Amino acid sequence: MVELKIISGTDRKNSNALRVSSYLKKQYEKEGADVEIVDLKEFPLEAVRGGPYGEENKPVTDFVRPILKADGLVIVTPEYNGGYPGILKMLIDYLPFPEAFEKLPICFVGESAGAFGALRAVEQLQLVVGYRNAYLFPERVFINRVKENFDEKEGLRDDFQQQLLMDQVHNFVEYVEQLKQQGLIRARLEGGA
Ligand SMILES: Cc1cc2nc3c(=O)[nH]c(=O)nc-3n(C[C@H](O)[C@H](O)[C@H](O)COP(=O)(O)O)c2cc1C
Repeated sequence: MVELKIISGTDRKNSNALRVSSYLKKQYEKEGADVEIVDLKEFPLEAVRGGPYGEENKPVTDFVRPILKADGLVIVTPEYNGGYPGILKMLIDYLPFPEAFEKLPICFVGESAGAFGALRAVEQLQLVVGYRNAYLFPERVFINRVKENFDEKEGLRDDFQQQLLMDQVHNFVEYVEQLKQQGLIRARLEGGA
């Protein structure tokens, strides 16, 4: 069984990324994955006041531990001002450098109010985690006009888009399984901060 974490990429209240993440969790469970959501609303912001990069930091270590144990990540990101949310970059900058994403499969879902479904945010994220040597899963899904086009129980209202999302879920699990069987995923990491 593969262990996945879905990172819901914002701390905004009543977040659409969290709604999409909850829906995806159920779909990944149907595919037999062990999956949990990492909700950035819970990121310990107080513990990073003053910029304690690289220092012992228990709240941060506790928060990031599930990410470091995962066989793969699904990142659900909204688009904020043509990019991904600052809190998501904050999380990335408090993961252990340089090993956090090394040989870790990562899958991307974007959601936005606008017409392009957070394409820009996803591509910026791919640049960052690609620099850190992640395996970038090539099937990306972009949910545009998320309020109209996505329903937390039914998924995407458009059949074609829904099929893309379901294929992404199925194929990502298979991709992670195969990398794992071949010993190509980085070992589980300890620590954080
Ligand atoms: C700070 C902020 C900036 C935003 N910038 C954009 C943007 O550049 N393009 C866009 O299509 N939507 C933008 N939106 C709308 C969000 O993409 C949309 O509401 C999305 O569903 C928010 O995700 P969330 O509910 O998970 O926060 C912005 C929303 C916020 C709060």
